[in-house]
Amino acid sequence: MSKVMIVNGSARAKKGHTAFVLAPFIEGMKKAGAKVELLYSKKLKIRPCVGDFKCWGETIGECFLEDDMQKIYPKLRETDILVLAIPVYIPLPGMMQNFINRLCPLVEPLLEYKAGRTRAKFHDNVNISKILGVITGGWWEIENLSVVLKIVEELALNASTEFSGALLRPHAYALREETELNKEILSTLEIIGEKFIREGKIDQEDLTFISQPLVDQDDYITVWNKNYLEEKRKQKIDW
Ligand SMILES: Cc1cc2nc3c(=O)[nH]c(=O)nc-3n(C[C@H](O)[C@H](O)[C@H](O)COP(=O)(O)O)c2cc1C
Repeated sequence: MSKVMIVNGSARAKKGHTAFVLAPFIEGMKKAGAKVELLYSKKLKIRPCVGDFKCWGETIGECFLEDDMQKIYPKLRETDILVLAIPVYIPLPGMMQNFINRLCPLVEPLLEYKAGRTRAKFHDNVNISKILGVITGGWWEIENLSVVLKIVEELALNASTEFSGALLRPHAYALREETELNKEILSTLEIIGEKFIREGKIDQEDLTFISQPLVDQDDYITVWNKNYLEEKRKQKIDW
């Protein structure tokens, strides 16, 4: 049975668009028999890394900072698949940045050049074999998600583990409208979760389908600006 740990980095936790995108994906993984644990970084106390490299030197594999990460480290070591669910907050929500930095003790600093890049690997007592992203953004274009996508990919490659790709949802708010297309996207997210656990991979066709535009690009800007300008007028702001 695959063990999956998901860390949702949204400051809006369960109420956020990221949670909305994640829900059917989790259902699909559970259907396929995965054991899924979902954590919200907002609800955890995760201090920033102090950068002294003790976890790579004096106390190899251990972080001395006393906070919720100490409960999470043993679980992470037993996890097969790590899913980072991240809303773009130019680029990361703060707690997600803390979480990513604090993964350092799980990584063994035995360095190697791979395709011209310096990479390490997870310690042998860490099971994580795949890292996947679920990324949401507010703006219209999918390119807004590319910095966060790169961060998740780099994290996987730095730990010499598989980067399994990412589910990308630009203008994620628009998925909440009850339309036929949105229903299809939600059921595709469930299928992706199921297939990912059963077959270990995600079809590009499914990824393209879930990321497709849900509103017209020009309308997006027009509606956004109209709402903003109305609000500004209401507040009698004239600068
Ligand atoms: C501080 C901040 C910065 C943001 N920056 C971007 C951005 O650069 N690009 C983008 O597409 N969306 C941006 N957004 C919008 C969020 O990514 C988007 O609304 C997301 O779906 C929120 O997910 P959540 O509801 O789970 O928190 C930003 C939101 C916040 C709060």
